[in-house]
Amino acid sequence: MGTPVIAGNWKMHKTPQEGRTFARQLSTKALNLPEVDFILFPSATGLHSIHEALVDTAIEMGGQNMHHEQSGAFTGENSAEMLVACGCQWVLIGHSERRHVFAEPADSRPLKVATALGAGLKVMLCVGELLEQRDQGRTQEVLREQLSNDLGQLQRFPVESVVIAYEPVWAIGTGVVATTQQAGEAHGMVRGVLRDLYPDDDLGAVKVLYGGSVKSSNAAELIGTPGIDGFLIGGASLELDEFVNIAEIAKQELRSA
Ligand code: 13P
Repeated sequence: MGTPVIAGNWKMHKTPQEGRTFARQLSTKALNLPEVDFILFPSATGLHSIHEALVDTAIEMGGQNMHHEQSGAFTGENSAEMLVACGCQWVLIGHSERRHVFAEPADSRPLKVATALGAGLKVMLCVGELLEQRDQGRTQEVLREQLSNDLGQLQRFPVESVVIAYEPVWAIGTGVVATTQQAGEAHGMVRGVLRDLYPDDDLGAVKVLYGGSVKSSNAAELIGTPGIDGFLIGGASLELDEFVNIAEIAKQELRSA
């Protein structure tokens, strides 16, 4: 594993002021953790002021979603260009809440991926199965379907610009974390699907993160699992000390690997 990625998806939490305070405090603590790549995904309203707190730090920032069109009559949406203008380097695409709570159309995702990359954003593409799909033994099929659909416009896999976050839906916000065996297997499936989709590409450096009820109490065994390159953290990213603890644990594991 290379440098672990520790990403916080704040979902619909934190005002811009709260986010800025967190970002300032994190940037001080992150100075002691140069071996960790931090990324924050605040709500769109916080991006501008949080970016100001992160200027001159190594912490990166992303939007939680975006529209695939450059501009137009899309009330409530944000474009890739707007995210870039607010200081984003990243965008989350296909988070399970976009897929399942907002019923985002599947055919919008490959367009979003292409538009984001075209605008110079890096993409964190979230994939993962529902409990019912896992129980039916369909995890691999679902991951294949999601990855091949969402990356469908890319002739080559841009290893530097796309990170995959495997987030089993049943583990998100439930306190039920995937076992290391379940997570390890699913990460293997993601890599296997990518190899099938891009047989000519060198995928050795692809990063696959795990997300779903990650906390400091389960981070060590997860990060010690082969194929897990970091975490996309929801609830536990809202509290500074807990978020930093998880990063410390990831760094320790990296050292002892
Ligand atoms: P929790 O860490 O709260 O389970 O959320 C995971 C997630 O959805 C991150 O994108």
